[in-house]
Amino acid sequence: MILSKPQGRIANDTSRNRVAICGRRWGKTVLAIRELCKAASIPKQKCWYVAPTYKQARQVVFEELKDKLRELRWLTKVNETNLEFSLKNGSTIALKGADNYDSLRGVGLNFLVMDEFADIKPDAWYSTLRPTLSDKQGRALFIGTPKGIGNWSYDIFNQAVEDPESWSSYQYSTLSGGRVPAEEISSARRDLDEKTFNQEYLGTFETYSGVIYYNFDRNRHVKTYTGEIPDVIHCGLDFNIDPMSASIGVQTDSGFHFVDYLKIYGSNTNEVCDEIKRRYPNKKIFVYPDASGRQRRSSANGMTDHIILQNAGFVVKSANTNPAVKDRIAAVNSKLCSTTGDIGILVDPKCKPIIEGLERQTYKEGTQIPDKDNITDHQNDATGYVISWLYPIRRNTQNTEPGNWRSRQGNRL
Ligand SMILES: Nc1ncnc2c1ncn2[C@@H]1O[C@H](COP(=O)(O)OP(=O)(O)OP(=O)(O)O)[C@@H](O)[C@H]1O
Ligand SMILES: [Mg+2]
Repeated sequence: MILSKPQGRIANDTSRNRVAICGRRWGKTVLAIRELCKAASIPKQKCWYVAPTYKQARQVVFEELKDKLRELRWLTKVNETNLEFSLKNGSTIALKGADNYDSLRGVGLNFLVMDEFADIKPDAWYSTLRPTLSDKQGRALFIGTPKGIGNWSYDIFNQAVEDPESWSSYQYSTLSGGRVPAEEISSARRDLDEKTFNQEYLGTFETYSGVIYYNFDRNRHVKTYTGEIPDVIHCGLDFNIDPMSASIGVQTDSGFHFVDYLKIYGSNTNEVCDEIKRRYPNKKIFVYPDASGRQRRSSANGMTDHIILQNAGFVVKSANTNPAVKDRIAAVNSKLCSTTGDIGILVDPKCKPIIEGLERQTYKEGTQIPDKDNITDHQNDATGYVISWLYPIRRNTQNTEPGNWRSRQGNRL
């Protein structure tokens, strides 16, 4: 595989620490794999690839790296559990997840790649990984999409200004990677709101005021639903017991109109089913629940929440796992107002918890982690499940079929 020009520029940079902030599908992970192999081509080197989670390291890189090392005929041993490769020249390459970063202490590394590092906790670098590079003066490559100026990736990116001797930084848009056609990028610009588009495709650090649904505006999004309730109702559902939250709406010519909600304290799934059926008899009801309800057994006879919903006659729309919270948020923000100014979500004024949820939920200070202490969180989960299923954000050029999160996310970390 021949590197693109910008990939080559980063590969040829000899700084001890390199930072690459790039748009989606730019070729970050390919460059990371290439740099790991290059580092491990020197005898007796210890090289690590760290992803935000072990699962991501396994899913995104393991097979690809194994094929590459086999092709090069460098391998002597592969440990499938530890995700570790031993090479003929005495070097090792190990794949790690930063979800359990305390376990990453204590080895002298020669080379470290942190892929999608904005999603890794800063402490994983500052207190655990950085010291592992100290004794051997190891090199580091930080690579990923940005996550707003409050995220530590912004500080790391700016290290090159403070300490240009040991740090260098690069910033590239998706287009410059040459892997995504210009038409696809224009189409994403239409689908996404401006900040999401800038972050994901231009690779820029955006300012977020702390409000999660920054595109929500009471004056523009709150509107009485005056039409007939159609035959099909869509209902996002969060199973939290106190309260059980549902965001209920209908599809219209211009998008989605929330017309009703549930917020029931001390409730259970059976009760929620009865209440929805009581309100909407003779309607076809699609429910978009929390994916964890696939396993959660909440009734006395051991039925899962999803089976209870199906037995109630609802059509259940849920993938094996929930979409990433940030993707759910991006889908809602993009549908609230696209870059071209199209409003795709309206909320009837009677749906107060939905309005307050969108208006009030904030990120924890200086992060992009939603504030969970907030009561608005459950209603927003319900709202996000239905919107992100019906109007997913475009993630790559191939599969954009709603609901197929696994394939739609491609090899996104
Ligand atoms: N130099 C290259 N030559 C050929 N194909 C490449 C090259 N670099 C990247 N690709 C291809 O482009 C696609 C995206 O690459 P990659 O997964 O590395 O991007 P990414 O920036 O990590 O994407 P994401 O934002 O989804 O994590 C992949 O199909 C990959 O095989
Ligand atoms: Mg990647």
